Amino acid sequence: MKKLPAKSVNSLPNLIREVGTRGASIPGFRSLAIGNPAAAAIPVETIREAAREVIEGDPMLIMQYGPANGYEKLRQLTVERLREVKHLSSENQEILMMCGSGQGLGLFPRTICEEGDEVYTDEYAFTNALNGIRNAGCKPVGIPMDEEGMIPEALEKAASSGKGKYIYVIPNFQNPTGITMSLERRKAVYEIAHKYDLYIYEDDPYGELRFKGEDIPTIKSMDVDDRVIYAGSYSKILSAGLRVGYLFGNAGLIKVMQTVKNGSDGQSLPMLTQLVVYNSLKKLDMQSYIQEICKLYGKKCEALLRGLKRTCAGDVRILEPEGGMFVWMILPERIPVEEYFEKCLENAVGVVQSKAFAADQNHPGNCVRLNFTFLPEEELERTGEIIGRLTK
Ligand SMILES: Cc1ncc(COP(=O)(O)O)c(C=O)c1O
Repeated sequence: MKKLPAKSVNSLPNLIREVGTRGASIPGFRSLAIGNPAAAAIPVETIREAAREVIEGDPMLIMQYGPANGYEKLRQLTVERLREVKHLSSENQEILMMCGSGQGLGLFPRTICEEGDEVYTDEYAFTNALNGIRNAGCKPVGIPMDEEGMIPEALEKAASSGKGKYIYVIPNFQNPTGITMSLERRKAVYEIAHKYDLYIYEDDPYGELRFKGEDIPTIKSMDVDDRVIYAGSYSKILSAGLRVGYLFGNAGLIKVMQTVKNGSDGQSLPMLTQLVVYNSLKKLDMQSYIQEICKLYGKKCEALLRGLKRTCAGDVRILEPEGGMFVWMILPERIPVEEYFEKCLENAVGVVQSKAFAADQNHPGNCVRLNFTFLPEEELERTGEIIGRLTK
């Protein structure tokens, strides 16, 4: 093989997959590593019925090429939901359906960035977003965060380099830290983007999974000069396996992204899955169905926290989320995260070390991410107790 460019081989290691591989040979292994929705949160019967209707319906609708920007009825329904649920105006905006919202994480930098551009992210951010930035030949610059999210002063200091192209944020129940960005922070981040003429990529796959506190307006809802691209997903509220997500933003920019997307994936989102999602959405009362998921996740999160709090050492900090799928545990210096990770595995529990999410790999942090949506409630409490005890 010829030498490949650094942008292609500099991806972060997939530590989450590594946990799965190592756990596979451990009897009774319980994983808090994987970010999967609960099986009980997937409306299997509705999706099965929706799929049957699609397959037995108009065959040419699913067996021919579809529109490059997505199935029209699903696009319209998604924009309606954005208007109703997120209060987003669709004036001069367009929507591009994608193969999971994750597809946008690579597509966006590939479309708007030159090699060498900086992208400002939380100091710990979703691994695939960091890889998408790196694979476009750009540099993710991690911005320190506190319990309200990215710190504006630090963001402004970084942005003053003049090399930035966009800010990547997950304002609701951030992956990996579970932190929700306060309204003041959202406004401050938007103002800095305006001052330094940066785009904002607002990644919101968990936004509807709030089980505590009040909804906070999206950054997109403050977007008076079309600099925010909003990424949404049906993975966490319907089914991750159907792989349907979308980007919503300035019509001209979305059109260019659609062309770039087609140039690399040849219209990868099947009509079949888009129609199944559309039919399922039509069949479900989404509001009450999502309320049920939130109730379930709230209880699961409490179970994990109950277990942890019962046994954890006093010098461990646990960030309690108001929604989403993750709890963040900040370990004191006396517990090196690599050793803690191995101890957890020895006790048949999988967790993810913070280095999997570190924008700056020279500062991997001393924290772990814990998922609370996948395991059953009873197991979560017990698992929390086990890994809490290990901190002593
Ligand atoms: C922050 C964030 N963005 C995007 C995604 C991608 O979701 P999907 O491609 O399933 O829509 C995920 C998935 O876990 C995520 O955590």
